[in-house]
Amino acid sequence: MKLLDGKEVSAKIKQDIKEEAAAFTAEFGRRPHLVAILVGNDGGSETYVASKMRNCELVGFESTNIRYESDITEDALIAKIQEINKDETIDGLIVQLPLPKHIDPEKITEAIDYRKDVDGFHPINLGRMQRNLPCFIPATPYGILLMLEHYGIDTSGKKAVVVGRSNIVGSPMSILLARNTNPGNCTVTLTHSRTANLKEEVLAGDIVVAAIGKKNFVTADMVKDGAIVIDVGINREDSTETKSGFKLYGDVDFEEVSKKASWITPVPGGVGLMTIVGLLKNTLQAAKAEVY
Ligand code: GUN
Repeated sequence: MKLLDGKEVSAKIKQDIKEEAAAFTAEFGRRPHLVAILVGNDGGSETYVASKMRNCELVGFESTNIRYESDITEDALIAKIQEINKDETIDGLIVQLPLPKHIDPEKITEAIDYRKDVDGFHPINLGRMQRNLPCFIPATPYGILLMLEHYGIDTSGKKAVVVGRSNIVGSPMSILLARNTNPGNCTVTLTHSRTANLKEEVLAGDIVVAAIGKKNFVTADMVKDGAIVIDVGINREDSTETKSGFKLYGDVDFEEVSKKASWITPVPGGVGLMTIVGLLKNTLQAAKAEVY
């Protein structure tokens, strides 16, 4: 078994981004700028946004975190988004999900100018991705592609099984792996909570992408010998063992599955770090007007 090491790959790509950001700043007299809006105080979201902001600064981007109480109205949030859309000093805008129940995430996603949508969630970016046109690719699937590319893993002709059909990971991942690109050219099965015979479907996968959000959901009896296993899960549990007060678990039973896999991502230290890289790359591309 070989480790798909998010720490190593993300450090290398972030160094490249840092150099490109410095060149951008020297040329244009300002840094690439990402704004993240965080509504409410969900523990996971707070951690993710703080990490995104910290990583922006590490690579020489400007970062702004705008915070609202969970009772902000949908209209007020959309008004703020429209203001940011017009601000030429801001390259990328993300609104951290999930949002409080009274705010429709679809309306918010569509309110963001697709040219600043560095999360790649806007229907225009999603449609262009499916057509293989220049677009912003959602950060987590993008990070996974960069990781496969880094290790020179040839995915062409392989059977890929994606577990979970979320808008953020599973659905875009299934589209990307099926595209006529490298990485890509897979025969893709997208499985979900209504899939019949899930175990048999996953067992057929040369590549398994687990994105369901359930601790240790993918067990060794579900995985083919020699499979490439990508674990997207970040499941938090309270723990007295760590300084942070919580411990992270993947969607894959790493201890057992790693005995069968040819390649596998750890949690933590795998896909989570690559998500940040995907976001940083999108933000740099937005600043440099490389996509639109
Ligand atoms: N919530 C979980 N993952 C993401 C992400 O990649 N972007 C945003 N905006 N919210 C998230």
